[in-house]
Amino acid sequence: MKTVLSGIRPTGQLHLGNYFGALKNFVQMQHEARCYFFIADYHSLTTHPDPKQLHENVRNVLAEYLAAGLDPEVATIYVQSDLPQTAELSLLLSMHAYVGELERTASFKDKIRKQPENINAGLLCYPVLMAADILIHRPDYVPVGKDQEQHLEMTRKYARRFNTIYGEEFFPEPQPYNFGRELTKIPGLDGSGKMGKSEGNGIYLADTDEAIRKKVMRAVTDSGPTEPDQPMAEPIANIFRIMQVVSSPDVYNDFLARYNSCTIRYGDMKKQLAEDIIAVVAPIRERIAEIKADGAYLHRVVTRGAEQAAESADATMRRVREIMGIKPF
Ligand code: TRP
Repeated sequence: MKTVLSGIRPTGQLHLGNYFGALKNFVQMQHEARCYFFIADYHSLTTHPDPKQLHENVRNVLAEYLAAGLDPEVATIYVQSDLPQTAELSLLLSMHAYVGELERTASFKDKIRKQPENINAGLLCYPVLMAADILIHRPDYVPVGKDQEQHLEMTRKYARRFNTIYGEEFFPEPQPYNFGRELTKIPGLDGSGKMGKSEGNGIYLADTDEAIRKKVMRAVTDSGPTEPDQPMAEPIANIFRIMQVVSSPDVYNDFLARYNSCTIRYGDMKKQLAEDIIAVVAPIRERIAEIKADGAYLHRVVTRGAEQAAESADATMRRVREIMGIKPF
């Protein structure tokens, strides 16, 4: 059985893009591979060091993972900071990570631009910590979005480097994983680009029905097609794209036909779209609320997850220490 691992930073509520782009695939994946899914709270400290918010954010993402269908009886679900072996591996890997290559990382350069007042060493070493998260369980596959591909590339580089320096094929080179198909990208409702946590163009799994209706009715459109089969402007294509993912094929095809024959009324389409989004989101939202209210359950999930993760992490660290010459007396 293959091993799959992925992590998510607890920096905001999950939205439809996270759900269709990643979470739904994780839920399916958990039955096909040995899966580790964790909440990367250490990583969130590089940009959002807020002691008042941190725990609440972790709790939210955890409840959202579980509400979306991740099953702690099947997959190993844990919080990064509950596995201090990761921090040790990160320290050891950092001895073979060159500052020059870390400074050239796209995400680091981006952060220099975005938060020039806080260019901390944690940001610089972000890819090393991520490599440690991954290599600690020696997985075969890591499902990640486009923005994380370079980090995964660096993980493979550190794995190869470690193996070469110590003359032992210990770490595998984990491959990116896209679930054997094109990744589902969900556009935002503001006319262009993808749905993002920080763009303010998203529908969240925790949104109320009313909030969803409001957001959808406000989505950017144009004045409507004037010729049959007219190419769609981006905002319209985006609305159709979301409909394709959440609505039934009949509904989608019906509105497409109306567009192509210039009889479409965007107001009708949005009303339908809002109801179809609600059909997906409402049950998840209710589960999120139930799960969040059950502190004892959350405690059991993360405790068990940390225990399971520690088994694999301890095995890795025992060998890493030996290989590097850290030996007991
Ligand atoms: N850097 C990832 C993100 O921002 C989160 C993450 C941390 C991660 N460690 C990981 C993802 C290990 C995959 C594997 O999305």
